[in-house]
Parts: sequence; structure tokens; C-alpha cells
Amino acid sequence: MRVAIPSEADPAEPRVAATPETVKKIKTLGAEVAVEPGAGVKSGILDADYEAAGAVVSGDAVKDADVVLKVRRPSATELPAYKCGAVVIAIMDPFGQQAALEAMAKAGISAFAMELMPRVTRAQVMDVLSSQANLAGYRAVIDAGAEYGRAFPMMMTAAGTVPAARVFVMGAGVAGLQAIATARRLGAVVTATDVRPAAKEQVESLGAKFIAVEDDEFKQAETAGGYAKEMSKEYQAKQAALVAEHIKKQDVVITTALIPGRPAPRLISKAMVESMRPGSVIVDLAVERGGNVEGAIAGETTAANGVKIVGSSNVTRLAASASSLYARNLYAFLETLVDKKAQVLAVNWDDELVKATALTRDGAVVHPNFQPKTAA
Ligand code: NAI
Repeated sequence: MRVAIPSEADPAEPRVAATPETVKKIKTLGAEVAVEPGAGVKSGILDADYEAAGAVVSGDAVKDADVVLKVRRPSATELPAYKCGAVVIAIMDPFGQQAALEAMAKAGISAFAMELMPRVTRAQVMDVLSSQANLAGYRAVIDAGAEYGRAFPMMMTAAGTVPAARVFVMGAGVAGLQAIATARRLGAVVTATDVRPAAKEQVESLGAKFIAVEDDEFKQAETAGGYAKEMSKEYQAKQAALVAEHIKKQDVVITTALIPGRPAPRLISKAMVESMRPGSVIVDLAVERGGNVEGAIAGETTAANGVKIVGSSNVTRLAASASSLYARNLYAFLETLVDKKAQVLAVNWDDELVKATALTRDGAVVHPNFQPKTAA
């Protein structure tokens, strides 16, 4: 069994899909591991570190690989190098990407999307959304602190008192809860909102105040998988009115709201941004999924009426930590695809984790949620 770790083709992607630690573990499964030169450099891992862990560094790493571990979905230019039948595991970003899914099917690879991993106990260790969102939530607060021209904690000095920053976190899932905890550690006064009722207790347990429209729709807003539903137009209007009033008094707003498979909900309008005082900072963590904030631009920090809107992709600036957690998530999944006794790849296509994540197989898009429209 050959396992390959390519360099990420996207220059904006500094993470890598394996670390020396996981290379050693993959080798215990009986695999040979080949890493493309420079694959780990942006995460602080040198080729020599991979070699010391037992990998071969080769420009042809993917050529005969049975398994390719990646961060992002392979592009059309990368696919021809892959062996037909290779298992490719990555964050595939499959929603609305039909052409890319069909290209992977045509290339004959078996593509698995880590972000579709079900949130069952057995798969917690494979949950890339959690591992990466946790770091993103932390980094959002660090970014906000760097852009904010005032201090976060209350400071009582001989020259007078500096008030604590007021931080409002919108969306209290994995990223939001970490943002709340980080902002609290820095001494901010923190409020938070979410549409899932379960979030209320979690927010309060971190010492933040929960703010939401708690009507009947809110009470049923959580799916069986623990995710948010898209809310009705009426609810969104009520939520917007509440947020508009609250946001005026905030110094920092961090938005993290997502709905699986849908564009991110728009939570902050231009008018709301304008209602904030100059010097305030908004960090939009949902910017790559369409954005929670009107005017947020992916990869940029913009300013409107003196209010800064940060749209940076932030796990990429914690590449070493993000890679180390992501690589462990991947290894945990790979382990379930291998017959350890025979030391061969043995995908159980009936396993619920495989069924939930398999996008393509034997030349076709096989995931029920991503069938071409004509076949639906
Ligand atoms: P996510 O990344 O899909 O969304 C982020 C947050 O935005 C969610 O809390 C969601 O409710 C919220 N949101 C969506 N629309 C909103 C709106 N209009 N206004 C305000 N907030 C809105 O969610 P994430 O972070 O993946 O977590 C979802 C839940 O899953 C959480 O309860 C988390 O604790 C739970 N979870 C469970 C795991 C397990 O293995 N059982 C693992 C990881 C998370």
C-alpha cells in the first residue's frame, strides 16, 4: 500500500495533510509513504523531517499511490497524475461544485470529503470541521485585537480607567465558542447569539451573555445532526432587529454563522456596520462561504465609516497547528479503511463513515446529495 502526501497546488493553502507524527503512524499500517518536496514547508515541516519519520521525498509521490492525502480537492490539472482507483481524502468543498466532482469521477479516483463526516462518537477524532473551526475561532479574536485600537481588558491606571472591550460573537458553534472563551480570557465583556437553543447553555457556561429571539421556531432550530436550519424570513427579520439594536453598542463583532450546504446567512447589513462607532472591528469567519457581513471581502481587511471588516482566511495563518490537527483527523479515518492484519487497503463501502463521505467511485459521483440534476 502506497500513501502519498502532495504539496498543495493552491498557493494560498499552507497546510499539509500529514506530519512526521502521522507519517510514522501510517507506516505502522504497513504503508510506504511518499511526500512531495516542500509539501510541509509552509507548516514548518522540512523534507528532512518527513525522511526522518520514514517517508520518501519524491516529485512523483502521487504516481503509483493507492491513497492520496490532501488538504484541498485535487484540481483538473492535478488529477491526470493520480492512479485510476486511488483513494483521495481531502476537504473537498463539494457543494455547488458539480463539474469538479464529475472531473474526479472521470479520473477514476475514489474521493472522500472529510467535512461530510457524520458527527457520531466514533468519528469525533476525524472531525475536521471542529479541529479547524476551533483554531479559526481563536485566531479571529487575535485578529480583532490586532486591528482594534484599544485594549480588551479593563485597566485601572493612575491616568484613568480603560473600559473593557465589548465583544459580540454571532454563531456559537465550535468556532464561536472558542472565540467566546478567547475573548473572555483577554478580559472582554462578551455576548453571543445563535439560532440553536442548545447554544444558550454553552454560551452561558463560558461566562458570556446569550442574546437571541427565543420564539417557537428557535426552539426547533436544531437538526438531528446538531446543525442549524435555515431560518424563516420572519425569524430573520426579528433576529436582524435585535442584532441591529445590540450591535450599535459593540466594539468587536465576530461572526461564525454557517448552515451546512447553504450559503452563509447574512446577519450584518451595511446599515448595521454604519451604526457602529469608528474604530470598531468586525471579523467575518464565514466570508469564504458567502459571508455573514455585507461588505466583507475574502482575504482582505476593508473599512467602512471607520469600522474595519476583517475577511482573512485565518486557519491558514495557524498552519502548523491546523496541519497537525488535520493530519491526525485524516490518519484516524485512514486507519478505518485499512485491514491491519493483511496490511492492505480494504474500504468497507457499507460503513456509515464511508457512505457519508464517499463522493466518487468507479467513474461516477456516488454521493446521494451530489447527483447530477437530470438523474435526481
Ligand atoms: P457550523 O460551523 O455549521 O455553524 C456555526 C454556528 O452558526 C452554529 O452554532 C449555528 O447554529 C450558527 N448559526 C447558523 N445560522 C445562524 C444564524 N442565522 N444566526 C446565528 N447563528 C447561526 O456549526 P459547528 O460549529 O460545526 O457546530 C454545530 C454544532 O455541532 C454545535 O453544537 C457543536 O457543539 C456540535 N458538534 C458536535 C460534534 C459531535 O461530534 N457530536 C462535533 C462538533 C460539533
